[in-house]
Amino acid sequence: MLVDAVRRATLSPRAHALDLCSGSGAVAIAAALRGARSVTAVDVHRRSTWAVRMNALLNRVRVRALHGDLFEPVAGRRFDLITVNPPYLPAPPDIESRRGDHAWNAGHDGRAVIDRIIEQLPGHLAPRGRALLVQSSVTGTRETLDRLADAGLEPTIVERRRGPLGKLMAGRVDYLISEGLLRGPRLEEEVLVIGAQYAPIRRTRRTRGRSFGRGALTRPSA
Ligand SMILES: C[S@@+](CC[C@H](N)C(=O)[O-])C[C@H]1O[C@@H](n2cnc3c(N)ncnc32)[C@H](O)[C@@H]1O
Repeated sequence: MLVDAVRRATLSPRAHALDLCSGSGAVAIAAALRGARSVTAVDVHRRSTWAVRMNALLNRVRVRALHGDLFEPVAGRRFDLITVNPPYLPAPPDIESRRGDHAWNAGHDGRAVIDRIIEQLPGHLAPRGRALLVQSSVTGTRETLDRLADAGLEPTIVERRRGPLGKLMAGRVDYLISEGLLRGPRLEEEVLVIGAQYAPIRRTRRTRGRSFGRGALTRPSA
């Protein structure tokens, strides 16, 4: 879904793109093939960094693969496109993680990674930049939209697909129900791509007084 969203995104040839939680690098490579001027991929697991480099070579594109925790390896930098398919699997505290699950576990409610990303996003988005985040309805779509708005960004739902619970999610149904994350008889989730950008700066007429003032001033200066 995220790869498709990147393929459809309007991307200037001057755009600098960042793919967080890059895994094998499929999303980063899609941004590079789409013509971004530079693409940086970050993942906390070294194996991912190697996989991204290898896959970029195979696809004959340039991707800078960095190892580290979320925005830490790109501290101080802003990007025109930030893509993230973060881990979002709610995990019981005593979980015996199977091989591969660590890439998906995200705390007791599945929000441990996405909340940290949203908090740091405004500091890394270019003035006219856009973020695209993957989210499961099981971990709270409304909460993500509200947190993005609280962070001074304008969220939009770019795409949503309803279907049966993913394999890993389905393996934790009892836990999800006990945590109140899953309700009703239908074991379904919606997977969404959520967009976020700075609200356009609008000149707004003051309701009192004669002067005109600026609206949302959360966007950093260009
Ligand atoms: C759901 S996978 C997404 C992989 C890939 N982006 C994709 O769409 O197929 C989540 C990825 O996030 C990485 N990850 C987990 N915690 C992270 C963190 N704190 N900082 C950077 N990457 C992280 C995992 O290693 C894993 O590769």
